[in-house]
Amino acid sequence: MAENVQHAIAQKKDEPAGANEWEPKIIGFLCNWCSYAGADLCGVSRYQYPTNVRAVRVMCSTRISPHIVLELFTAGADGILVGGCHLNDCHYITGNFYTEKRLRLMKKLLEDAGIEPQRLRLEWVSASEGEKFSKIVTEFTEQVKKLGPSKVKKDAALKTRASAADGASQTFRLRALVGKELGLEKTGNVYGQKLDQTELEKLIDAATKDEFERSLILELSKQKARSVKELGQIMDVPTDKVLRHIVVLRQKNMIAMEHPDGLTPTYKAIEIGGEQ
Ligand code: FES
Repeated sequence: MAENVQHAIAQKKDEPAGANEWEPKIIGFLCNWCSYAGADLCGVSRYQYPTNVRAVRVMCSTRISPHIVLELFTAGADGILVGGCHLNDCHYITGNFYTEKRLRLMKKLLEDAGIEPQRLRLEWVSASEGEKFSKIVTEFTEQVKKLGPSKVKKDAALKTRASAADGASQTFRLRALVGKELGLEKTGNVYGQKLDQTELEKLIDAATKDEFERSLILELSKQKARSVKELGQIMDVPTDKVLRHIVVLRQKNMIAMEHPDGLTPTYKAIEIGGEQ
């Protein structure tokens, strides 16, 4: 799939554009059985729509992990469209229910990173909805145009936050929570207790915030060793909370204390296979 995405981006780069004309780069992940067929029908039926969306065919919308999406936003994508079958029509039965849950997590992480969540959109398009596909693409392209170009490439601080969001999306805690969310709601936990959706979402939001902040500490301390106070100021997070995150990261052997500078210890991320 990586080659497909690179090909889509390269295709877009080769297109001529007016001197001052900016055209958004949008990646569209479309499920093979419905949305991609809908896009096909749209073309065959000659419905008009902007050419900004580069389609990447995937077998099911649930194939799109938060990591794929956040990595693309970190690389500077202006928008991402995920298209799947209507609920209860997924060819893998429950795939798109999981997609919905994942999209919620992705949007939350984008928000934490400081990237507009409106740059990410999920739509259900069936194989017979060619016209709907053209309307969605037109509307979404307009929406991304209004938001303007992604600032990630020009803003180093934003890029660091985007990388932190990507890092958080790959943590075991968030992957496990979002993977289990649907089951906890529908069939319940090992004791057969069903969990309330609102309560579950609150719990996941809190875990997302924690994991994002920990991931941001790691990103910032990869650049150089930093003190708790410095990290707190950059992140705009109280120092006692930063310290609690550092304790957790040290327990996981992900961050190390550098030789204290005077009385103030500084922390540096431990990079796997690299130096501290
Ligand atoms: S096969 Fe289309 S969303 Fe799963």
